[in-house]
Amino acid sequence: MKVLVATEKPFAAAAVNGIKAEIEAAGHEVVLLEKYTEKTQLVEAVKDADAMIVRSDKVTPDVLDAAGKLKIVVRAGAGYDSIDTAYAKEKGIVVENTPGQNANAVAELVFGMLVFGVRGFYNGKSGTELKGKKLGILAFGNVGRNVARIAEGFGMEVYAYDAYCPKESAGVKAVDSQEELFATCDVVSLHIPATPETKESINHALAGRMKKNAILVNTARKEIINEPELLKLMAERTDLKFLTDIKPDADAEFAKFEGRYFSTPKKMGAQTAEANTNAGIAARQINSFFATGDTKFQVNK
Ligand code: 3PG
Repeated sequence: MKVLVATEKPFAAAAVNGIKAEIEAAGHEVVLLEKYTEKTQLVEAVKDADAMIVRSDKVTPDVLDAAGKLKIVVRAGAGYDSIDTAYAKEKGIVVENTPGQNANAVAELVFGMLVFGVRGFYNGKSGTELKGKKLGILAFGNVGRNVARIAEGFGMEVYAYDAYCPKESAGVKAVDSQEELFATCDVVSLHIPATPETKESINHALAGRMKKNAILVNTARKEIINEPELLKLMAERTDLKFLTDIKPDADAEFAKFEGRYFSTPKKMGAQTAEANTNAGIAARQINSFFATGDTKFQVNK
């Protein structure tokens, strides 16, 4: 079987070697398409692939239509909003993710961004500390739980809201609504997936509940932010800061809030050697699918 690894944002070299070793040991072949710049390159490369490993690469109907032999796509990571899962299902193509693989890497970045934020982007002036502050975690999944663990070391008071998870967790105060979370916390860290339900849900009404001098951190997806409304709020509330690992469409507009807005130049949450190496799980999932038909991590059943 031919396994295409299509990563516009490549994995670390050691991780790629790990994937190759796994796939080849099972008797399959690996084809690499890294740092591609045009969608047409992906469309061309997928034509004779039996399986594909991707990151945030867009797997849209034109890609799936070109993929005459494709049986499985594994998104090495958690969020699979970049894949047209319904269309893949129509075509009988299994889509899987590798939940948890990037969770610690993303959670650590939250604190990298937060320290940078509370210290005024290292501008030489007195900032504040995280100790004793209230941290609100929106969605208590794999990343949220890692954020809670690290926050404890910083001496923060941790709150969480999750519409789908059980309420109780050691050291974390569960609140009853996202409105309550935003109104209670000094920092709100977003970990919801991008779904029709969450799209643009971080809007003026919700973010406007944040406390004085609050910080909003987004390491999830840009689609969850209502950008025009957040821009309006930041213009009204000159005390608020917005730190994001996903460049908003309105990046230039946000950048006007100097000292209150920061975006990583390229999405960095999962860009660690360790998280990339964990991506080897994707290779094992593909091997197991071809060996036994295993679809444990299928997300488009
Ligand atoms: C994920 O969903 O796992 C993260 O957002 C990582 O995305 P990336 O592969 O684009 O870095």
